[in-house]
Parts: sequence; C-alpha cells; structure tokens
Amino acid sequence: MEILEPKQGTYQLEDYSRTRETFDWEQTKEAFSWNKTGNVNIAYETIDRHVDEGRGEKTALYYSDASRDEAYTFQAMKEKTNQAAHVFKDLGVKKGDPVFIFMPRSPELYFALLGAVKAGAVVGPLFEAFMQDAVRARLEDSEAKMIVTTPELVSRIPHEELPHLETILVTGDSSKADEHEKYVSFDEKMKAASTDDSAIEWVDLEDGFVLHYTSGSTGKPKGVYHVHKAMLQQYQTAKWVLDLREDDIYWCTADPGWVTGTSYGIFGPWLYGVTNVVRGGRFSPDDWYATLQNYKVTVWYSAPTAFRMLMAAPKEILEKYDLSSLRHILSVGEPLNPEVVRWGWDVFGLRIHDTWWMTETGAMLICNYPSEPIKPGSMGKPIPGVDASIIDDDGNELGPNEMGNLAIRAGWPAQMRKIWNNEPKFNEYFAIEGWYVSGDTAYKDEDGYFWFQGRNDDVIMTAGERVGPFEIESKLVEHEAIAEAGVIGKPDEIRGHIIKAFVALKDGYEPSDDLQDNIKKFIKSELAAHAVPREIEFKDKLPKTRSGKIMRRVLKAWELDEPTGDLSTMDDA
Ligand code: PRX
Repeated sequence: MEILEPKQGTYQLEDYSRTRETFDWEQTKEAFSWNKTGNVNIAYETIDRHVDEGRGEKTALYYSDASRDEAYTFQAMKEKTNQAAHVFKDLGVKKGDPVFIFMPRSPELYFALLGAVKAGAVVGPLFEAFMQDAVRARLEDSEAKMIVTTPELVSRIPHEELPHLETILVTGDSSKADEHEKYVSFDEKMKAASTDDSAIEWVDLEDGFVLHYTSGSTGKPKGVYHVHKAMLQQYQTAKWVLDLREDDIYWCTADPGWVTGTSYGIFGPWLYGVTNVVRGGRFSPDDWYATLQNYKVTVWYSAPTAFRMLMAAPKEILEKYDLSSLRHILSVGEPLNPEVVRWGWDVFGLRIHDTWWMTETGAMLICNYPSEPIKPGSMGKPIPGVDASIIDDDGNELGPNEMGNLAIRAGWPAQMRKIWNNEPKFNEYFAIEGWYVSGDTAYKDEDGYFWFQGRNDDVIMTAGERVGPFEIESKLVEHEAIAEAGVIGKPDEIRGHIIKAFVALKDGYEPSDDLQDNIKKFIKSELAAHAVPREIEFKDKLPKTRSGKIMRRVLKAWELDEPTGDLSTMDDA
C-alpha cells in the first residue's frame, strides 16, 4: 500500500490522535466574541470581529475577473455589509426570512450575502447558471419574499408566478429598477444606506443563516437549513484541515451557489481572518494558474474535476507559471483518484488532501490532515469531535473493510437542522436511531481511514456538482417530442460522471442528431447548463415498475453492460 508521509513542519493540528481524545467543542467557543458579549451573529464574527481585534486594515477580499480587479479590507467589508444589512432591514426583512442571492461572483454578492445574514435573514444562494424553472422551484418552495440579482439574470425570475416574492433588488445602474414595481435598485439603496452597525440582528445559535437547495434522487430540490452555530465547526476545520495561518492567501474555487462556496469560500476562511481570493469568470488552466501565481496563493481548496482538467492540459501551460507560494492543497466533492494525488505530488511537490462532507453536514467531517499520512484514494479520518462509522441497514456497526452505509453520529455543530417545509424528508436521514445516514457507501480500513465506494441512491455527482435525476427527467418530459425520460450518471474520466438521458419519443417524432441538440438546448435554456445531458439515447420504451416508475437501475446496468438484477417489479420484462 502506497502511503504519502507528512512533510516535516508545524501544523495547526499537531497530534490528531491526542486531539481526538481530548477535544470538546466547548473549547472552540473561545474564538468568538459572543462567548464574552452574548451577541451572536455569524456575519459579525466573519467580518466585524477582526476589525474589533485590530485587523481592520488587513485585506479580506481580493476580487478579480476579466473587467474588475479590487481589494477590500476587513474595515471596508464591515461597512459594505452593514450598508447591505440596512438595505434589507429597510425593505422589511425580519429575522428568519429567506432572502435569495442570485448572481455571478462579484464583490456585491459577498456584501449582499453577508449583509442579509447580518440582518437576521436566512440566505438562499442560487447558482448563476440556473434558468427559470430551477429558480422558480426554489423560490416557490421557500416562499421567499426577497431576492438580489443582476440585470442579466433578472428575467429568469418569473415573479408573476411567485406571489410571495415582493422585492427584487437589481444591481447596477437604476434603469432596470424602473421596469417593474417589484424591482428596486440595490446600488442606489446601498449608496443611501448608513455604514453604522445598528442593522445587525443578534440571534440565537440555533437560528438559521443559510438555506442551500440540493438534489436528492426523487422529488424536487430540498432546502437544507443551517444555523449560526455551524460557525464552531467551520472555524475549527478552517484551522485544522485548511491549516490556515495569519498570513495565508487562501483560494476556494467553488461558487457560493454550492455549500463549499459558502462554508469554505466565505465563512471558514473569514471566521479565521485570512485573506480570501475570489476569481470570477470561467475555468481555464491558464487563468487558474495565473490566479495562483499572481495572488501568491498559499492554501488552495478545489475539486477533482478541476484537478483532472488541469492534469489533462498541456504541460507547457503549467511551466509558464511560478506556483512556489503554494503550501497546502485540498479537494472535495467527488472521489479523488490516486492518480490525481500522484500528479499533485509531481507538479506541485505537495500532497492533495481529500475532504468528505455534504450540503447536509454543513462542514467537513472526514479529512486528510497535513500532519497525518495520506493513503491516496482514501477520504481520510473523522475530525476530532465527530464520530463516523460504517453501519448496515439495521444500524449495526460493521468491522474493518466491510462495506456499508457511511454514517455520522448525530449532533455535530454544523449539522443541518431541518429541510425547509419538509419534516418527513429530514427524518429520513435520521431514521436509524443516533445516526445520520449519508447515502454514501464506504468502508473503513484497519487504520481508521474511510474509503468512498459510491452513492447508494441515484444522485449524480458531475464535475463536482450534485444533480438530481428527477429534476432533469421532469424537464425532459416537458419537451414536445418526449414521452418518457430516465436519467443516470455515466462514469467519465474527467468529470467523474456525466449525465446521460434515455428518452422515448412521442408518436410522430423520429430520433435524429438535430433532435438531440434541440433537447440539450431546451434543458440548457430552461433548467441549467450543468444539468444538460451530455449523452441522449433514444429508446422505444423505458424500463418501468408496474406502478410506472422509471427503473434507473436497469438503465444503468444497460449502460455499463452489467447484470440487471431482479426484474420482478418490472412492468414488461
Ligand atoms: O457522494 C458524496 C460526494 O458528494 C456528495 C455530497 O454532495 P454535495 O452535497 O453537493 O456536497 C459536495 C461538497 C461538500 C456526497 O454524498 N462527495 C463529497 N466529498 C467527497 C465525495 N465523494 C467522494 N469523496 C469525497 N471527498
């Protein structure tokens, strides 16, 4: 077995085993000002605390894209987020109200998101690629009254069909705001708002601050609700796992539309007070290497798909850049292939540290640490303060190297507190007394390292993004030519999985390349670019149960040339 030993050095988590024995989450409380003042708000701890403690002039945010290049200190972030908090409060936002943020990465996104949290709102970040149906589903479910967006995206918000939605704040000049009575100019409101901190809403540790919609294998996307107390774990993992130090320049490549982009693109690093790099625009190897080089990034958190794309790019690109500032690299979202770890070792002279967690878990749970050996291909070991295990369907813990359900002992600080408006769904995760069951299959080896084996539902992880087949299938059958649709994840070297759709056409339609393109465009324009099936296969009929459910398991078996298993429930074997 190949093992990558830790480099000599000092680390924030020096002694993993000892810390596991002695650590208690009470110890983390000392990092926060509410421990002394009693005033709780995660956005305050993220920004204002650093100003109070004399770090106001430190750079909090470096933002750049093709047309902007800006830097903001913690003091500047404090003022901007205070202004945004005033804007939300003036428009009637109350503690616990969902407020959505639907915009590409920009400094304004961070002002709005943190400002809304300061005002006591529960923020629902929406990925910029979402089209009308995806936006509608999330706003409908949450019954949100307010959303912040850009002039480019505002037309994707079908406000006529969303009776609860009262206010749409639009960034940029005020011209858009004149177009409809629900539209309000965010920039104008910001200019007029005070920078004082009187709009900060003090909350309870158990009050919500973020609502991330994510996909399951069935049903519509569900709103995963997290509370301010998550800061304990976000802070502690930023320290132990990201191994952050005072002078680090940190870059998390994830968009805040996904949980990695909030927990570790905003809260973790800023709770810890480091300088955070945000790069807007699209991925390209040149752009990413230039970002690492130009900001002298020291700690870099990204995803296997991105690493694999960098790995596939010509070597000459890499050779143009000086990446010697890098000290620590981490990965999340999909299995990190040993091959990628080896590549990282070759080209950066560094180990890539895999981390495992989920939208529902709010923060990292199973990780590799700078001070511990890495077994390439393994997700690592549970963080101190958290117990993980492999259990069977009855809740019995399994022994070393036995495959089963990856489960976490319920009650860690960043655990989701509810699924918005859907208690039965929430309870499903905790159906086995005392455990949160993740939906992943894994095993634990004799040294306590966890090894990911797969999802045990139909959720698709494609290019690091989590996609529910149901949402795509539902959209596909709205296409004029499609009678039935089944969607699966098909293994892919670069993206982990790609989305593959099987469709049966209505009478009068014939399979063709044009029709395939047309279907792809349809999904792209109505749902989201990342939900587009890369492959579409036409079938006369799809395998279904007698109750009419598409059997994705059978589609998958066909695709992979594997045995189809028990077909007794199939309608027409
Ligand atoms: O299947 C696991 C996979 O991503 C799922 C969670 O997706 P999401 O909620 O979008 O959160 C992703 C980032 C926090 C998990 O159920 N996953 C996440 N990390 C890993 C992983 N699979 C293998 N290895 C990982 N390190």
